[in-house]
Amino acid sequence: MTNQLVLVLDFGGQYKELIARRVRECRVSSVIKPGNMPIEEIKEMAPIGIILTGGPSSVYDDKSPKCDRELFDLGIPVMGICYGVQLMAYLNGGTVTSCEVSEYGRTEFVCDTESVLFKGLPEKQIGLMSHTDRISILPEGFRATAKTQNCPIAAFENGERRLYGVQFHPEVENTPNGTEIIRNFLYDVCGAVGDYDLRDYEERAIAAVQKQVGDHEVILGLSGGVDSSVCAALLAKAIPNRLHCIFVDHGLMRKDEGDEVEAAFKNRAVDFIRVNAEDRFLGKLRGITEPEKKRKIIGEEFVRVFEEEARKFTGDVFLAQGTIYPDVVESGTNNSATIKSHHNVGGLPEDMRFVGLVEPLRGLFKDEVRALGRQLGLPDYLVNRQPFPGPGLAVRCIGKITKKKLDILREADAIFREEMKRSRKKADQYFAVLTDTKSVGVIGDFRNYGYTVALRAVKTTDFMTCEYVPLSHKLLGRTASRIVNEVPGVSRVVYDITGKPPATIEWL
Ligand code: XMP
Repeated sequence: MTNQLVLVLDFGGQYKELIARRVRECRVSSVIKPGNMPIEEIKEMAPIGIILTGGPSSVYDDKSPKCDRELFDLGIPVMGICYGVQLMAYLNGGTVTSCEVSEYGRTEFVCDTESVLFKGLPEKQIGLMSHTDRISILPEGFRATAKTQNCPIAAFENGERRLYGVQFHPEVENTPNGTEIIRNFLYDVCGAVGDYDLRDYEERAIAAVQKQVGDHEVILGLSGGVDSSVCAALLAKAIPNRLHCIFVDHGLMRKDEGDEVEAAFKNRAVDFIRVNAEDRFLGKLRGITEPEKKRKIIGEEFVRVFEEEARKFTGDVFLAQGTIYPDVVESGTNNSATIKSHHNVGGLPEDMRFVGLVEPLRGLFKDEVRALGRQLGLPDYLVNRQPFPGPGLAVRCIGKITKKKLDILREADAIFREEMKRSRKKADQYFAVLTDTKSVGVIGDFRNYGYTVALRAVKTTDFMTCEYVPLSHKLLGRTASRIVNEVPGVSRVVYDITGKPPATIEWL
């Protein structure tokens, strides 16, 4: 059995993943594909509905991304959002022009509650607008169903052809009734039955893995991060006797982290192999100060250790990975400069031969992965874990890396985490950094020449940009005082108030 499916066609909008998430929240399965996906492929997927995303282009620009005009004649309901609605108007014979006044931000619109999209909703609502072009002449057969002060066609429809569109963004939180509008489209236009949920996903993923793997062995590089942990828990249920989790403890974990990961998996019926490779990693890192060099050494060493362990398995072996949906969404443009070479501790030994890859989380967004983890009984401290870089504390320890410095950092970081938890202050990522700067302090009657610890707490949704969190002075003061008093070797604590850009989240 397969789920009903909604296709989200991407035209370069920043909210494509949010659209797909909203659809899934309405219990309908969704996938994101490039806007110019060939019609034949669309037909093969047989979606119950199609949503066209926003995007930064203008429909009159020759290079702007477009779908095939035929898309609107397939008999499949289509809803256009922002650029998507303009494209729908343009390709159906309407006119799009530049706005006299661009609309940005939360904007009141008045809608026709007779329209199926606005069924059961108030006549006056707020929608997030973000556009400089607007539809000025409706295509034949369409009627306007909402307007704002500056935009006479803020929504339109051709009910007979089941084509709908909104100029605002229903997928964002700033449009309070947005999910309802999407739900109306899904249930009252597309005929959704609401057959998508995570229990189902779990059952199907388990059945698919069992079928794929047969009686072969599977090894999984378990880093203790959310994705690989949930992947391990799912596979432990699917193929308990054939799953071998290799957890490489590189000695760059936070306080108690290695033991927590081990505790979470030790009692499951899987082969959990913890490789304590601290000496090996610290040996390779000895004397190294350059950040990129540290990252490269750790990445390579991880692969070596993993490889050695994996080679102990003879015969045909599958490799499992915690790849998730945002990693596989096909996007059109991606021309970013390399600022840091990120590496995931689940990295692949390139020259190893595996009979295949097992990626049971490939279809899930991050918050769905967390929900699945809870469903599978993983403890909260693993499921709610904030992102932790593959190279671990190596990117938070400036200058030469030694066990002594790492221990100081671990203790300071644990205190900060404890105080943050106690204060219930929200931050998407927070941690301590051990700078290489020493300064003079005084404890009792003694001179204390120790390290400077920097604290960092950031607010972000995508980790591509961030703002620092304005933590209270009380919280900062208490944390600083505890760190200097409880962690020998620290004489001073500072708080990092730089955003990204111009800084990055991690210091190295
Ligand atoms: P930056 O420092 O580039 O970090 O602003 C952005 C986000 O990525 C995390 N990070 C990493 N994650 N391997 C990872 O899996 C890495 O090498 C790595 N380096 C940074 C960082 O913690 C932040 O969430």
